[in-house]
Amino acid sequence: MDLEEPMGSVWRASAVAAGPGGGCRVLGLGTALPSTRVSNADLERFLETSDEWIASRTGIQERRVAGPEETLLDLAARSARACLGAAGVEPGQVDTIICSSSSPDETFPSLACRLQAELGCPLGPAFDLQAACSGAVYGLALAQSLIQSGLSHRVLVVAAEIFSRLLDWSDRSTAILFGDGAGAFLVGDERSPGSEILALDLGADGRGATALGTLPAPLDSQPSPNMPEYTSSKRSLGRVVTMNGREVFRFSTKILEEVVLRLAESIGVGVGDIALVVPHQANSRILATAAGRLKFPMERFVTNLERTGNTSSASIPLALAEAAANGVCRTGDLICLVAFGAGLTWGGLILRWGPTAVRVDDPATGG
Ligand code: UT7
Repeated sequence: MDLEEPMGSVWRASAVAAGPGGGCRVLGLGTALPSTRVSNADLERFLETSDEWIASRTGIQERRVAGPEETLLDLAARSARACLGAAGVEPGQVDTIICSSSSPDETFPSLACRLQAELGCPLGPAFDLQAACSGAVYGLALAQSLIQSGLSHRVLVVAAEIFSRLLDWSDRSTAILFGDGAGAFLVGDERSPGSEILALDLGADGRGATALGTLPAPLDSQPSPNMPEYTSSKRSLGRVVTMNGREVFRFSTKILEEVVLRLAESIGVGVGDIALVVPHQANSRILATAAGRLKFPMERFVTNLERTGNTSSASIPLALAEAAANGVCRTGDLICLVAFGAGLTWGGLILRWGPTAVRVDDPATGG
């Protein structure tokens, strides 16, 4: 299908202002990265590609990959502990856990249930959601509605991904794009100090489902001596990413622009009033194209994909945490998070930045 044409009419203006007082705040943010760095030059050793091609087409210079013994739960738990530690909240005060992952190592039990036991949280609801790269924003939206309904009071939203186990490492069109990492948000009600959620926009168009998905992993090929350990089929989740890059590119630039416009309109501000846009970290050309269409300065698009690659649903918390830790987010700023991904799905929200506590757990940089 041509995603460009009919989509405009079906991307309903679903952005909704979150109501007086917002009712809900992001209290804490924590992230975790694996320590192993893989540069474009490292990929050149076993893939027919070049640093020049990858950097100029995507903006990515390096990504992180999980170690042989490192699990999705390890990354999720590290990010959750960083988040709770920063916010000064005990695991016993978290009543709901929502996890997002497109790279779980088991179908069930959920990552969220594993995490609840690992952290020692009370026996409230714990479940995973699947919205691909939009998962963290979907999770925040769900957390907000659970809090507003009174069902939950402290919700941990954790997005964790190990895409290095979901790649065909012989496919240069996808292997260069992705990386591993995790990010956690703690969401509470308006009585707690944090960043207020002012507006939300969620959507999906399943007609684009074939643009980005997974296929069974190719049957075991003879491992080449040049292939590093992280590419080993022993580590594979048994499926690999498949993508129509151009179709995804077209969809992403268009939806990014539309969501930012709808969100700004829903709270009665202009796009220029937004201090920072924190987009899903897919590709710097997607971001530059959308920034150009919005006439929004690229310097106010937060990016860290140069160093992390595309970490799917973990990418927004990772980028936001890095910006906050570097002092880029200032009190009162309107900060727009925008995600887009397989499904096709999208999700955006506007935060009014406040005293959200942030901690970055990165053994490679000592963060
Ligand atoms: O979370 C969302 C995840 N997905 C995305 O963000 C993907 C969005 N799409 C993109 O970012 C771009 O489409 C890509 C970066 C994936 C590809 O860029 P492109 O400009 O659309 O390249 P292309 O697929 O049209 O390929 C151009 C050429 C082809 O060679 P020929 O046919 O012109 O000889 C490819 O075979 O580049 C070749 N190519 C590569 N060359 C060196 C494809 N991948 C590579 C590579 N290194 N890694």
